[in-house]
Amino acid sequence: MNTRSTRPLIDIENASKTYVTASSGQVHALERVNLAILEGEFVCVVGPSGCGKSTLLRMLAGLDECDGGRLTLAGREVEGPSGEVGVVFQAANLLPWLTVRENVRLPLRVGGRHEPADTRIDDLLAMAGLGDFGGRYPYELSGGMQQRAGICRALARNPQILLMDEPFGALDALTRERMNIELQRIWQSNRKTIMLITHSISEAIFLADRVVVMSARPGRILADLPVPIPRPRSFDTIVSHERYAGLASAIRGLLNAQEGAPND
Ligand SMILES: Nc1ncnc2c1ncn2[C@@H]1O[C@H](COP(=O)(O)OP(=O)(O)O)[C@@H](O)[C@H]1O
Ligand SMILES: [Mg+2]
Repeated sequence: MNTRSTRPLIDIENASKTYVTASSGQVHALERVNLAILEGEFVCVVGPSGCGKSTLLRMLAGLDECDGGRLTLAGREVEGPSGEVGVVFQAANLLPWLTVRENVRLPLRVGGRHEPADTRIDDLLAMAGLGDFGGRYPYELSGGMQQRAGICRALARNPQILLMDEPFGALDALTRERMNIELQRIWQSNRKTIMLITHSISEAIFLADRVVVMSARPGRILADLPVPIPRPRSFDTIVSHERYAGLASAIRGLLNAQEGAPND
């Protein structure tokens, strides 16, 4: 089990963001978002399309700047991408000319580190069920396997924090459930702090300690709902837990009250 501290590892204070583009003028993406995620916590974020979820994640990853408010990771203000943070997007974006092992090792090379990392990389691949595929090329892997390789790559530098933006959105339902179970295991055994964005209410409840629901644009936090369901969770039993249906309908109700919110 994870033992959690009370120190926010991810701290978002009054984060606002307005994009200004030639084509669409001003887009007010986020409005004063406040969210603190404790060390070891798993938080899922749901919200209507276009409400600024990816913007929030990119700002935390140091890939975009906020224009109001303050973002800190482990007490340090975000100034750009950091080795303490692993990021996973919907597409694994593996480099096709590198093997799976070379792709996963890439962040270590880019970071200028040359320690004997091969054992660690092989351990990661084995953990993700890719032990026999390190020497293969991405095109030889299924979508689910590529995404697992992407997660291994995000874990290569052993970051404290994992930021995941709809990481399983492109997978079929069964593969997605398997990935959820795998991710729960990775989180429980590695004590990561995870913020994961999803469109799936069932995925959010399965994975999260807390489900954060955002409003339509400009994105604000509408609700922060604890998930008091013991772990490890399984898809067979979670739906019959006494709190599951109430939580799912609370989240669905909040999302349906927003404009254009297609959710399962
Ligand atoms: N680089 C950008 N330039 C201009 N507008 C953007 C940019 N990125 C996102 N947006 C706009 O900001 C809003 C929030 O986008 P996003 O964070 O991707 O939402 P979500 O991930 O919740 O679907 C959308 O209206 C989107 O079109
Ligand atoms: Mg998005």
